[in-house]
Amino acid sequence: MKKFSVFLSTVFTLMVLASSAFAQTTVGIVLPTKDEERWIQDQNRFQSALKTAGISAEVLFSEKDSAKEKSNVETLITKGIKVLVLCPVDSASAAASADAAAKAGVKVVAYDRLITGTKNVDFYVTFDSFSVGAEWGKYLVSQAKGKGNNLYLYAGAASDNNAFIFFAGAWSILQPKIADGTFKIVNSDAAIKLQKKAELTREEEASIIGQVTTNWNPNDAKSKAESHLTKATKAQKGIAYVLSPNDQTARAIADVFAKDKDIKKAYTTGQDADKASIQYIIDGKQSMTVLKDTRVLVADAIKTAITFSKGETPEKTKTYNNGVIEVPAKPSDVTAVTQANVKAAIVDSGYYPASLFTGLK
Ligand code: BGC
Repeated sequence: MKKFSVFLSTVFTLMVLASSAFAQTTVGIVLPTKDEERWIQDQNRFQSALKTAGISAEVLFSEKDSAKEKSNVETLITKGIKVLVLCPVDSASAAASADAAAKAGVKVVAYDRLITGTKNVDFYVTFDSFSVGAEWGKYLVSQAKGKGNNLYLYAGAASDNNAFIFFAGAWSILQPKIADGTFKIVNSDAAIKLQKKAELTREEEASIIGQVTTNWNPNDAKSKAESHLTKATKAQKGIAYVLSPNDQTARAIADVFAKDKDIKKAYTTGQDADKASIQYIIDGKQSMTVLKDTRVLVADAIKTAITFSKGETPEKTKTYNNGVIEVPAKPSDVTAVTQANVKAAIVDSGYYPASLFTGLK
């Protein structure tokens, strides 16, 4: 309830800010793909918030293709946008788009995923991605009993800077529990090699992510999980603790584990509060997700765009190093969702109506 009223007051603030400063300013928004519910959610939330705020803006999708992303950005620059809100397909490749925008005098706001390797990122609106990973770790630890529990690791796409932050958050919680014998890593030699190290370098993380990446693709996730279970011994099955990196891949992985007769139970993590995963959680087929309230991220992005359009500097609460500069940023909070709080976090908060789900208690 508190979150909802914070949200309403944010919408109101946006309306006031927009009416005074933003009538004719345009914003270009570029999102990575329509193939994932996550980014459709962002699009829908953007469209309704922009309408409420009376801002003219265009949302384009990049079809998971950096070249398409670049041409989207160029189209928007030609149309005269003043602010670009860009969620990159590939954090490093997007530097070229950011540079082109800056050259045209357009402010660049990285959205959810950081743009790396360029000085031309003016602001970063995002969620606290380290906490997303930490919530996965905390959940798996909370379900583990005794020693030697089987841990399966999966990660996002190595081209997405977030995949590293999520993994670092998870490692911060899981590594001490691997070191003390609570968990035993089943499916990554690279992770086993590094299991005594509390903090990993980017290269070390990359060596693990390279082995267990889903590429943010449910088909990749499915075939990886299948091959891991084919190789695993009976002792490595039984109860499985699975670090699955987002809802779409979590459902794919959970389905594979559910089919294996030697798996008694698989605890799975996720993020995004996809509608299908909320139903999976209600049905006990996925154990948890992390709600990243896209209404908040969208409101932050619009507020940032309005602030830039007035020639002012948005307020930062943190910075993220993108390899070239410390990018000023505003990460927002995330909420772990399990069967225990799914109704409160998803329905009572106004995020989704109860009518979308069955069996909600
Ligand atoms: C986002 C996640 C999303 C994933 C795959 C990440 O950068 O933060 O919300 O599930 O990309 O698109």
